[in-house]
Amino acid sequence: MSSEQQPAIELRAVTKKFATPGGAIYTALADLNLTVAPGQFCAIVGPTGCGKSTTLTLISGLERPSAGAALVAGRAVNGITPGVGFMFQNDAVFPWKSVLDNVAAGPRFRGRSKAAANEAARDWLRRVGLTGFEDRYPHQLSGGMRKRVALAQSLINEPEVLLMDEPFSALDVQTRSIMSDELLGLWELTRPAVMFVTHDLEEAIALADKVVVLTAGPGRVKATFDVDLPRPRRVQEIRFTDEFVRLYSEIWEALRAEVETAYARTTSKAAS
Ligand SMILES: Nc1ncnc2c1ncn2[C@@H]1O[C@H](COP(=O)(O)OP(=O)(O)OP(=O)(O)O)[C@@H](O)[C@H]1O
Ligand SMILES: [Mg+2]
Repeated sequence: MSSEQQPAIELRAVTKKFATPGGAIYTALADLNLTVAPGQFCAIVGPTGCGKSTTLTLISGLERPSAGAALVAGRAVNGITPGVGFMFQNDAVFPWKSVLDNVAAGPRFRGRSKAAANEAARDWLRRVGLTGFEDRYPHQLSGGMRKRVALAQSLINEPEVLLMDEPFSALDVQTRSIMSDELLGLWELTRPAVMFVTHDLEEAIALADKVVVLTAGPGRVKATFDVDLPRPRRVQEIRFTDEFVRLYSEIWEALRAEVETAYARTTSKAAS
């Protein structure tokens, strides 16, 4: 990446405050600075409640910063941002629509004809290995298959930015690593800038070009680590390499302190 290249995602001194039900103000993010280059895969890790999901909602335009700015492709985010795809932890597929209609929904919404949208949807279903399942409904699929539908549903729009909030956390370990490999393969096709939130440091390193560690809330960037492992990667195998193990222990050192701080807060609250 050249240094003058415009970031795909930029958070500039972002602070986010929420009013709590009790009327107090809670600072979820404080002075957070972060950039993701076009085509870069960035993983975000940090203890529970540190503001990871909040960070994604600011980039997507679902929430606004209290101070500072969120920018996508150099433009301040103002409402729902075009060119940004969002994959949530829970399946955000439409339960009442068939697999094909779920995937065709984006192009239809953007005004493509039904025939063109369906053709594109069939194409993406083939890429995610779901040919033959077009007429099923989401509840007739396994969890891993539903994730594939959700992936196709996001990628069919060819987003420049893809936000993923613990997308695979509900899956069993094997399905999860298969989905990680598939995600990398699909990401190579259109190369969006990705911001991928996870609690799983192994997953973060295996997928990403850089791993950002956030502090226990209020979230700010504690440290950023470049992951220079070669691609294409196979997530099951890469974690046994020396470089992976070295990175893991280095990043875990930074993350552990924050996890312990967050944990100590919850246990001290429980005791009081
Ligand atoms: N709409 C809201 N109103 C009030 N407080 C909120 C709101 N959304 C988030 N928060 C608070 O902001 C903090 C950060 O929340 P966020 O969901 O971003 O954390 P997270 O890092 O994604 O956590 P997890 O790892 O558990 O998903 C939490 O303390 C949360 O309670
Ligand atoms: Mg979250």
